[in-house]
Amino acid sequence: MYKILCRVFQVFMKVAMYMLPWYTPEIIEGSVSGSELISDMKKRDINRVLVVMGPHMLKRGLPLSMLENMAHMGIMYQVFDRITPDPTDAQVEDGVKLYNQIDGQGIVLFGGGSPMDCGKAIAARIARPSKSVKKLQGILRVHSRKRVPIMWAVPTTAGTGSETTMAAVITDRKTNRKKSINDVSIIPHICVFDASLTIGLPPDITAYTGMDALCHAVEAYTNSSYNTDLEDHMAQRSVKLIHDNILGAYSDGTNLFYRKNMQTAAFYAGRAFTRGCVGYVHAIGHAIGGLYKIPHGKTMAILLPHVMRAYGKNAEKKLADLSDICGLSTDCEIPVSEKSQLFINWIESVNRKMSIPSGFDCIKEKDIQIIVRWALEEANPLYPVPKVFGKNQIIAVIRKVMLDNSIHADFI
Ligand SMILES: [Fe+2]
Repeated sequence: MYKILCRVFQVFMKVAMYMLPWYTPEIIEGSVSGSELISDMKKRDINRVLVVMGPHMLKRGLPLSMLENMAHMGIMYQVFDRITPDPTDAQVEDGVKLYNQIDGQGIVLFGGGSPMDCGKAIAARIARPSKSVKKLQGILRVHSRKRVPIMWAVPTTAGTGSETTMAAVITDRKTNRKKSINDVSIIPHICVFDASLTIGLPPDITAYTGMDALCHAVEAYTNSSYNTDLEDHMAQRSVKLIHDNILGAYSDGTNLFYRKNMQTAAFYAGRAFTRGCVGYVHAIGHAIGGLYKIPHGKTMAILLPHVMRAYGKNAEKKLADLSDICGLSTDCEIPVSEKSQLFINWIESVNRKMSIPSGFDCIKEKDIQIIVRWALEEANPLYPVPKVFGKNQIIAVIRKVMLDNSIHADFI
Protein backbone atom coordinates (compact mmCIF):
# COMPACT_ATOMS: atom_id res chain seq x y z
CA MET A 1 0.00 0.00 0.00
CA TYR A 2 2.84 2.37 0.95
CA LYS A 3 4.52 1.80 -2.41
CA ILE A 4 1.26 2.40 -4.29
CA LEU A 5 0.80 5.70 -2.42
CA CYS A 6 4.31 6.74 -3.47
CA ARG A 7 3.45 6.06 -7.12
CA VAL A 8 0.15 7.98 -6.85
CA PHE A 9 2.04 10.96 -5.39
CA GLN A 10 4.50 10.75 -8.30
CA VAL A 11 1.69 10.86 -10.86
CA PHE A 12 0.52 14.18 -9.36
CA MET A 13 4.10 15.43 -9.28
CA LYS A 14 4.58 14.54 -12.92
CA VAL A 15 1.60 16.71 -13.85
CA ALA A 16 2.87 19.51 -11.58
CA MET A 17 6.29 19.34 -13.27
CA TYR A 18 4.67 20.36 -16.57
CA MET A 19 3.34 23.52 -14.92
CA LEU A 20 6.64 24.70 -13.46
CA PRO A 21 8.55 27.46 -15.24
CA TRP A 22 11.64 25.39 -16.08
CA TYR A 23 14.65 27.45 -16.87
CA THR A 24 18.01 26.61 -18.41
CA PRO A 25 20.70 29.14 -17.48
CA GLU A 26 22.05 31.36 -20.21
CA ILE A 27 25.60 30.19 -21.02
CA ILE A 28 28.58 32.49 -21.35
CA GLU A 29 31.71 30.70 -22.60
CA GLY A 30 35.20 32.05 -22.30
CA SER A 31 37.58 33.23 -19.66
CA VAL A 32 36.05 34.60 -16.44
CA SER A 33 38.92 37.05 -16.22
CA GLY A 34 37.94 38.36 -19.66
CA SER A 35 35.26 40.89 -20.27
CA GLU A 36 32.18 38.65 -20.77
CA LEU A 37 31.09 38.33 -17.13
CA ILE A 38 31.68 41.97 -16.27
CA SER A 39 30.02 43.18 -19.49
CA ASP A 40 26.99 41.12 -18.57
CA MET A 41 26.84 42.80 -15.16
CA LYS A 42 27.16 46.24 -16.72
CA LYS A 43 24.49 45.40 -19.31
CA ARG A 44 22.12 44.61 -16.45
CA ASP A 45 23.12 47.77 -14.54
CA ILE A 46 24.51 45.73 -11.64
CA ASN A 47 27.14 47.54 -9.58
CA ARG A 48 27.22 45.76 -6.18
CA VAL A 49 27.64 42.00 -5.88
CA LEU A 50 28.32 39.39 -3.24
CA VAL A 51 30.94 36.88 -4.43
CA VAL A 52 30.42 33.54 -2.68
CA MET A 53 33.37 31.16 -2.86
CA GLY A 54 35.19 28.42 -0.97
CA PRO A 55 37.82 29.38 1.65
CA HIS A 56 40.84 28.35 -0.43
CA MET A 57 39.88 30.05 -3.68
CA LEU A 58 41.71 33.32 -3.00
CA LYS A 59 44.84 31.41 -1.93
CA ARG A 60 44.69 29.42 -5.17
CA GLY A 61 44.34 32.71 -7.03
CA LEU A 62 41.50 31.53 -9.27
CA PRO A 63 39.17 34.52 -8.82
CA LEU A 64 41.86 37.23 -8.59
CA SER A 65 41.75 38.46 -12.18
CA MET A 66 37.94 38.42 -12.13
CA LEU A 67 37.90 40.52 -8.95
CA GLU A 68 40.54 42.91 -10.30
CA ASN A 69 38.50 43.44 -13.46
CA MET A 70 35.35 44.05 -11.44
CA ALA A 71 37.11 46.72 -9.39
CA HIS A 72 38.57 48.23 -12.55
CA MET A 73 35.10 48.46 -14.09
CA GLY A 74 33.55 50.05 -11.00
CA ILE A 75 31.69 47.01 -9.74
CA MET A 76 31.80 46.90 -5.95
CA TYR A 77 32.09 43.40 -4.54
CA GLN A 78 32.15 41.72 -1.17
CA VAL A 79 33.81 38.30 -0.95
CA PHE A 80 32.11 35.75 1.32
CA ASP A 81 34.35 32.71 1.71
CA ARG A 82 33.65 31.40 5.21
CA ILE A 83 32.12 28.23 3.83
CA THR A 84 32.76 24.62 4.79
CA PRO A 85 32.49 21.68 2.35
CA ASP A 86 28.92 21.11 3.60
CA PRO A 87 27.56 24.64 4.03
CA THR A 88 25.43 25.17 7.12
CA ASP A 89 22.37 27.27 7.88
CA ALA A 90 24.59 29.54 10.04
CA GLN A 91 26.90 30.23 7.08
CA VAL A 92 23.88 31.10 4.93
CA GLU A 93 22.79 33.65 7.55
CA ASP A 94 26.30 35.20 7.59
CA GLY A 95 26.11 35.56 3.81
CA VAL A 96 22.66 37.19 3.99
CA LYS A 97 24.02 39.76 6.47
CA LEU A 98 26.94 40.64 4.18
CA TYR A 99 24.64 40.94 1.16
CA ASN A 100 22.37 43.33 3.03
CA GLN A 101 25.35 45.34 4.34
CA ILE A 102 26.46 46.16 0.79
CA ASP A 103 22.87 46.56 -0.43
CA GLY A 104 23.68 43.86 -2.99
CA GLN A 105 22.15 43.61 -6.45
CA GLY A 106 23.39 40.16 -7.41
CA ILE A 107 25.43 37.12 -6.36
CA VAL A 108 28.40 35.47 -8.06
CA LEU A 109 28.61 31.76 -7.17
CA PHE A 110 32.27 30.88 -7.67
CA GLY A 111 33.52 27.35 -7.03
CA GLY A 112 32.16 23.85 -6.61
CA GLY A 113 28.86 22.63 -5.21
CA SER A 114 29.29 24.01 -1.70
CA PRO A 115 29.66 27.72 -2.48
CA MET A 116 27.02 27.37 -5.20
CA ASP A 117 24.53 25.78 -2.84
CA CYS A 118 25.34 28.32 -0.13
CA GLY A 119 24.92 31.21 -2.60
CA LYS A 120 21.61 29.85 -3.87
CA ALA A 121 20.37 29.47 -0.29
CA ILE A 122 21.44 33.08 0.42
CA ALA A 123 19.43 34.14 -2.66
CA ALA A 124 16.42 32.18 -1.36
CA ARG A 125 16.67 33.90 2.03
CA ILE A 126 16.95 37.33 0.35
CA ALA A 127 13.77 36.56 -1.60
CA ARG A 128 12.00 35.31 1.52
CA PRO A 129 13.48 37.26 4.43
CA SER A 130 10.84 36.11 6.91
CA LYS A 131 11.53 32.38 6.35
CA SER A 132 14.43 30.54 7.97
CA VAL A 133 16.57 28.09 5.99
CA LYS A 134 14.71 25.29 7.74
CA LYS A 135 11.38 26.64 6.50
CA LEU A 136 12.70 27.02 2.97
CA GLN A 137 13.98 23.42 2.84
CA GLY A 138 11.57 21.17 0.99
CA ILE A 139 9.76 21.65 -2.28
CA LEU A 140 8.78 24.99 -3.87
CA ARG A 141 8.95 27.20 -0.80
CA VAL A 142 10.67 30.19 -2.38
CA HIS A 143 8.08 30.82 -5.14
CA SER A 144 8.99 34.16 -6.65
CA ARG A 145 11.86 34.28 -9.14
CA LYS A 146 11.38 38.05 -9.40
CA ARG A 147 12.51 38.52 -5.79
CA VAL A 148 15.57 36.28 -6.17
CA PRO A 149 18.79 38.24 -6.82
CA ILE A 150 20.40 37.61 -10.18
CA MET A 151 23.01 34.85 -9.93
CA TRP A 152 26.08 34.16 -12.10
CA ALA A 153 27.38 30.63 -11.56
CA VAL A 154 31.08 30.09 -12.28
CA PRO A 155 31.87 26.38 -11.71
CA THR A 156 35.44 25.44 -10.84
CA THR A 157 34.69 21.72 -10.66
CA ALA A 158 32.79 19.47 -13.04
CA GLY A 159 30.33 17.45 -11.05
CA THR A 160 27.57 18.89 -8.90
CA GLY A 161 25.69 20.54 -11.76
CA SER A 162 24.61 23.07 -9.16
CA GLU A 163 25.08 25.76 -11.82
CA THR A 164 21.87 24.55 -13.47
CA THR A 165 19.86 22.92 -10.70
CA MET A 166 17.04 24.11 -8.48
CA ALA A 167 18.56 22.47 -5.39
CA ALA A 168 20.66 23.95 -2.59
CA VAL A 169 21.74 21.37 -0.01
CA ILE A 170 22.31 22.91 3.41
CA THR A 171 23.39 21.10 6.58
CA ASP A 172 21.72 21.75 9.94
CA ARG A 173 24.65 22.72 12.18
CA LYS A 174 23.05 21.07 15.22
CA THR A 175 22.05 17.68 13.80
CA ASN A 176 24.49 17.39 10.86
CA ARG A 177 21.52 16.52 8.71
CA LYS A 178 21.58 17.65 5.08
CA LYS A 179 18.38 18.91 3.51
CA SER A 180 17.70 20.61 0.25
CA ILE A 181 15.89 23.79 -0.76
CA ASN A 182 14.22 22.80 -4.05
CA ASP A 183 12.70 25.57 -6.13
CA VAL A 184 12.97 26.53 -9.80
CA SER A 185 13.30 30.13 -8.60
CA ILE A 186 16.86 29.50 -7.43
CA ILE A 187 18.23 28.07 -10.69
CA PRO A 188 21.14 30.43 -11.47
CA HIS A 189 20.38 32.89 -14.24
CA ILE A 190 23.74 32.72 -16.03
CA CYS A 191 26.48 30.10 -16.25
CA VAL A 192 30.03 31.15 -17.05
CA PHE A 193 32.08 28.24 -18.41
CA ASP A 194 35.84 28.43 -18.26
CA ALA A 195 37.38 24.94 -18.35
CA SER A 196 40.79 26.34 -17.36
CA LEU A 197 39.40 26.87 -13.84
CA THR A 198 39.21 23.08 -13.40
CA ILE A 199 42.80 22.41 -14.54
CA GLY A 200 44.27 22.46 -11.04
CA LEU A 201 41.82 19.99 -9.51
CA PRO A 202 43.69 17.05 -7.97
CA PRO A 203 42.91 13.56 -9.32
CA ASP A 204 40.79 12.46 -6.32
CA ILE A 205 38.52 15.52 -6.58
CA THR A 206 38.32 15.05 -10.36
CA ALA A 207 37.25 11.45 -9.72
CA TYR A 208 34.66 12.25 -7.04
CA THR A 209 33.07 15.18 -8.86
CA GLY A 210 33.00 13.30 -12.16
CA MET A 211 31.32 10.29 -10.56
CA ASP A 212 28.80 12.61 -8.91
CA ALA A 213 27.90 13.93 -12.37
CA LEU A 214 27.62 10.35 -13.65
CA CYS A 215 25.33 9.52 -10.77
CA HIS A 216 23.08 12.50 -11.56
CA ALA A 217 22.76 11.44 -15.19
CA VAL A 218 22.21 7.74 -14.43
CA GLU A 219 19.68 8.33 -11.65
CA ALA A 220 17.76 10.92 -13.70
CA TYR A 221 17.69 8.58 -16.70
CA THR A 222 16.68 5.45 -14.82
CA ASN A 223 13.95 7.44 -12.99
CA SER A 224 12.73 9.19 -16.13
CA SER A 225 9.04 9.59 -15.29
CA TYR A 226 9.23 13.36 -14.52
CA ASN A 227 11.55 14.00 -17.45
CA THR A 228 10.69 14.87 -21.01
CA ASP A 229 12.66 13.69 -24.04
CA LEU A 230 14.83 16.79 -23.65
CA GLU A 231 16.10 15.76 -20.20
CA ASP A 232 16.48 12.10 -21.24
CA HIS A 233 18.60 13.21 -24.17
CA MET A 234 20.70 15.42 -21.88
CA ALA A 235 21.25 12.49 -19.48
CA GLN A 236 22.33 10.21 -22.33
CA ARG A 237 24.70 12.82 -23.70
CA SER A 238 26.17 13.38 -20.26
CA VAL A 239 26.81 9.66 -19.66
CA LYS A 240 28.52 9.33 -23.03
CA LEU A 241 30.72 12.38 -22.37
CA ILE A 242 31.70 11.03 -18.95
CA HIS A 243 32.38 7.58 -20.37
CA ASP A 244 34.71 9.10 -22.98
CA ASN A 245 36.48 11.67 -20.80
CA ILE A 246 36.55 10.90 -17.07
CA LEU A 247 39.65 8.71 -17.05
CA GLY A 248 41.46 11.18 -19.31
CA ALA A 249 40.60 14.09 -16.97
CA TYR A 250 41.72 11.95 -13.99
CA SER A 251 45.07 10.90 -15.45
CA ASP A 252 45.82 14.03 -17.52
CA GLY A 253 44.32 16.87 -15.52
CA THR A 254 45.89 19.63 -17.61
CA ASN A 255 44.12 18.50 -20.77
CA LEU A 256 41.55 21.20 -21.59
CA PHE A 257 39.66 18.91 -24.01
CA TYR A 258 38.80 16.38 -21.27
CA ARG A 259 38.13 19.15 -18.76
CA LYS A 260 35.76 21.03 -21.09
CA ASN A 261 33.83 17.85 -21.90
CA MET A 262 33.48 16.97 -18.21
CA GLN A 263 32.21 20.50 -17.49
CA THR A 264 29.62 20.11 -20.28
CA ALA A 265 28.65 16.66 -18.98
CA ALA A 266 28.11 17.99 -15.46
CA PHE A 267 25.89 20.79 -16.81
CA TYR A 268 23.69 18.38 -18.80
CA ALA A 269 23.49 15.93 -15.91
CA GLY A 270 22.49 18.76 -13.60
CA ARG A 271 19.76 19.93 -15.93
CA ALA A 272 18.49 16.35 -16.32
CA PHE A 273 18.27 15.54 -12.61
CA THR A 274 16.89 18.86 -11.49
CA ARG A 275 13.65 17.86 -13.20
CA GLY A 276 13.97 14.06 -13.19
CA CYS A 277 15.26 13.85 -9.61
CA VAL A 278 17.91 11.55 -8.23
CA GLY A 279 17.24 8.27 -6.43
CA TYR A 280 18.38 6.10 -3.56
CA VAL A 281 22.08 6.59 -4.35
CA HIS A 282 21.68 10.20 -3.30
CA ALA A 283 19.17 9.53 -0.54
CA ILE A 284 21.38 6.93 1.18
CA GLY A 285 24.55 8.83 0.26
CA HIS A 286 23.37 12.10 1.81
CA ALA A 287 22.71 10.28 5.09
CA ILE A 288 26.06 8.44 5.11
CA GLY A 289 28.03 11.45 3.87
CA GLY A 290 26.42 13.77 6.43
CA LEU A 291 27.02 11.43 9.36
CA TYR A 292 30.62 10.51 8.59
CA LYS A 293 31.81 13.59 6.67
CA ILE A 294 32.66 11.73 3.47
CA PRO A 295 32.96 13.74 0.22
CA HIS A 296 29.64 13.64 -1.60
CA GLY A 297 31.03 12.37 -4.90
CA LYS A 298 32.89 9.56 -3.17
CA THR A 299 29.72 8.27 -1.49
CA MET A 300 27.94 8.50 -4.84
CA ALA A 301 30.63 6.53 -6.66
CA ILE A 302 30.57 3.77 -4.03
CA LEU A 303 26.78 3.47 -3.87
CA LEU A 304 25.93 3.80 -7.57
CA PRO A 305 26.66 0.21 -8.70
CA HIS A 306 25.11 -1.31 -5.56
CA VAL A 307 21.85 0.63 -5.87
CA MET A 308 21.59 -0.05 -9.62
CA ARG A 309 21.99 -3.78 -8.93
CA ALA A 310 19.36 -3.56 -6.19
CA TYR A 311 16.86 -2.09 -8.69
CA GLY A 312 17.15 -5.37 -10.61
CA LYS A 313 14.86 -5.79 -13.60
CA ASN A 314 13.21 -2.40 -13.01
CA ALA A 315 16.28 -0.52 -14.26
CA GLU A 316 17.66 -3.05 -16.75
CA LYS A 317 16.24 -1.55 -19.91
CA LYS A 318 17.48 1.96 -19.14
CA LEU A 319 20.93 0.71 -18.11
CA ALA A 320 21.08 -1.35 -21.31
CA ASP A 321 20.37 1.85 -23.30
CA LEU A 322 23.31 3.53 -21.58
CA SER A 323 25.50 0.52 -22.26
CA ASP A 324 24.66 0.80 -25.97
CA ILE A 325 25.22 4.56 -26.03
CA CYS A 326 28.67 4.11 -24.49
CA GLY A 327 29.53 1.36 -26.98
CA LEU A 328 29.89 -1.28 -24.27
CA SER A 329 27.42 -3.64 -25.96
CA THR A 330 27.45 -3.15 -29.70
CA ASP A 331 26.13 -6.67 -30.40
CA CYS A 332 22.32 -6.28 -30.54
CA GLU A 333 21.90 -10.00 -29.75
CA ILE A 334 23.09 -9.46 -26.18
CA PRO A 335 20.14 -9.71 -23.77
CA VAL A 336 19.06 -6.55 -21.96
CA SER A 337 20.05 -8.01 -18.58
CA GLU A 338 23.60 -8.61 -19.78
CA LYS A 339 23.90 -5.14 -21.29
CA SER A 340 22.74 -3.68 -18.01
CA GLN A 341 25.35 -5.75 -16.18
CA LEU A 342 28.05 -4.53 -18.58
CA PHE A 343 27.19 -0.93 -17.74
CA ILE A 344 27.32 -1.57 -13.98
CA ASN A 345 30.62 -3.43 -14.43
CA TRP A 346 31.97 -0.41 -16.31
CA ILE A 347 31.07 1.88 -13.36
CA GLU A 348 32.93 -0.47 -11.01
CA SER A 349 35.96 -0.64 -13.28
CA VAL A 350 36.14 3.18 -13.47
CA ASN A 351 35.95 3.34 -9.66
CA ARG A 352 38.81 0.86 -9.37
CA LYS A 353 40.92 2.74 -11.89
CA MET A 354 40.44 5.92 -9.87
CA SER A 355 41.22 4.17 -6.53
CA ILE A 356 37.68 4.61 -5.21
CA PRO A 357 36.84 1.86 -2.70
CA SER A 358 33.85 -0.39 -3.27
CA GLY A 359 32.44 0.10 0.23
CA PHE A 360 32.58 2.09 3.49
CA ASP A 361 34.60 1.09 6.56
CA CYS A 362 33.02 3.73 8.81
CA ILE A 363 29.34 2.75 9.06
CA LYS A 364 28.41 1.86 12.62
CA GLU A 365 25.70 -0.66 13.43
CA LYS A 366 24.01 1.81 15.79
CA ASP A 367 23.64 4.35 12.93
CA ILE A 368 21.87 2.08 10.47
CA GLN A 369 18.36 2.99 11.61
CA ILE A 370 19.00 6.72 11.30
CA ILE A 371 20.53 6.27 7.82
CA VAL A 372 17.45 4.30 6.78
CA ARG A 373 15.07 6.88 8.22
CA TRP A 374 16.83 9.83 6.58
CA ALA A 375 17.11 8.00 3.24
CA LEU A 376 13.43 7.07 3.19
CA GLU A 377 12.36 10.57 4.23
CA GLU A 378 14.40 12.09 1.42
CA ALA A 379 13.43 9.69 -1.35
CA ASN A 380 9.87 8.63 -0.67
CA PRO A 381 7.47 9.61 -2.09
CA LEU A 382 9.22 12.34 -4.15
CA TYR A 383 11.84 10.49 -6.20
CA PRO A 384 10.30 8.54 -9.12
CA VAL A 385 12.78 5.69 -8.63
CA PRO A 386 12.61 2.56 -10.82
CA LYS A 387 11.68 0.53 -7.74
CA VAL A 388 10.28 1.90 -4.47
CA PHE A 389 12.35 0.60 -1.55
CA GLY A 390 11.10 0.00 1.95
CA LYS A 391 13.17 -0.17 5.11
CA ASN A 392 14.53 -3.68 4.50
CA GLN A 393 15.72 -2.92 0.98
CA ILE A 394 17.62 0.16 2.19
CA ILE A 395 19.19 -1.92 4.98
CA ALA A 396 20.22 -4.55 2.41
CA VAL A 397 22.07 -1.90 0.37
CA ILE A 398 23.76 -0.50 3.49
CA ARG A 399 24.89 -3.98 4.56
CA LYS A 400 26.26 -4.60 1.11
CA VAL A 401 28.46 -1.50 1.22
CA MET A 402 29.49 -2.24 4.82
CA LEU A 403 30.70 -5.70 3.96
CA ASP A 404 32.26 -4.93 0.65
CA ASN A 405 34.95 -2.40 1.57
CA SER A 406 38.15 -3.52 -0.09
CA ILE A 407 40.26 -1.01 -2.03
CA HIS A 408 41.42 -2.16 -5.43
CA ALA A 409 44.68 -0.83 -6.77
CA ASP A 410 44.08 -1.37 -10.45
CA PHE A 411 45.56 1.94 -11.65
CA ILE A 412 45.38 3.06 -15.23
FE1 LIG B 1 25.11 14.65 -6.33
